[in-house]
Amino acid sequence: MEIEALHSDTNRATVARDVEAALLEDGHLVLTGPRLACVGAALAAWSGFAALPLELRQRYHQSVRAGEARGGWSLMREHPVYTSHMGAGELESAEPKQEYGFSVETGRTLWPDEQVAPGFAAGARAAAELLDATSRALLAAFERVLGEAPGFLRHAPAYMALKHCPARPSGAADGTGLHEHSDAVVFTMLAQSMASLQIRGRDGDWLTAPADPAGALVVIPGDWMELFTNGRIPAVRHRVLDTVQPRTSLAFFQNLAPMPVGPLARFVGEGQPARYPTVASDIDYVGGESGVPRWQTAQAAASAGVPAG
Ligand SMILES: [Fe+2]
Repeated sequence: MEIEALHSDTNRATVARDVEAALLEDGHLVLTGPRLACVGAALAAWSGFAALPLELRQRYHQSVRAGEARGGWSLMREHPVYTSHMGAGELESAEPKQEYGFSVETGRTLWPDEQVAPGFAAGARAAAELLDATSRALLAAFERVLGEAPGFLRHAPAYMALKHCPARPSGAADGTGLHEHSDAVVFTMLAQSMASLQIRGRDGDWLTAPADPAGALVVIPGDWMELFTNGRIPAVRHRVLDTVQPRTSLAFFQNLAPMPVGPLARFVGEGQPARYPTVASDIDYVGGESGVPRWQTAQAAASAGVPAG
């Protein structure tokens, strides 16, 4: 699907029908078009930052504060959500993955200046701006797919992560950088510099996502679409394989402001009982297990009388 279609004010109903058809047929969307050149540029500049000496990068670690601004770089193993999905090879590695994540609306990131990382700050901001606009258009299309009015999906600022993974010799540990899982979001948008991300198609087979950040963006529905549609549009399970060359990737997670998420009336009826619980969109992942959807963890905690999160 052309990303351009999402940035046009006309034909919104047609766009939503195309989105629905792709989700029902393939399970995911692949957006293409020249606008994505800025995502490729952002990943290239991020790769340059990741190649800098650690002591230089540490000046922009998430713990660093300078007035209102604060750092954005951190190790993936510093995120409990990621840690639960990591393979043994990654957890034991002396040179771990790193990411530079930021929320698209805060604008408070302590960016490395031009001399330190040429093109990085401007490139990442440009990519975030494009993806934020794309994400809002997708949310509107998803509302139509759900049969709901505009504004039903309560917008929350997205979290965008730039990831870098150093070369990993083949045969290390289980060879999987991130175990198979789904994301507790409406959808995730993904781009990568090398073939490593794999997603499950509707038939259950693994597909390797395009390794073309300047030309292809993959959109995978998350847990909330599965719950809202009572399983009609399942969350796409995905995993990341290790590569023998260093690689970079970008993930844009679109969650919701706090609201209940559960099977909508139009997806429940005679012969179609609700197969999912209703949970809060901001439930915490901490305490979850690798590969187990967050809503399942929350449901188990609730039935055991333990507050989720
Ligand atoms: Fe994920």
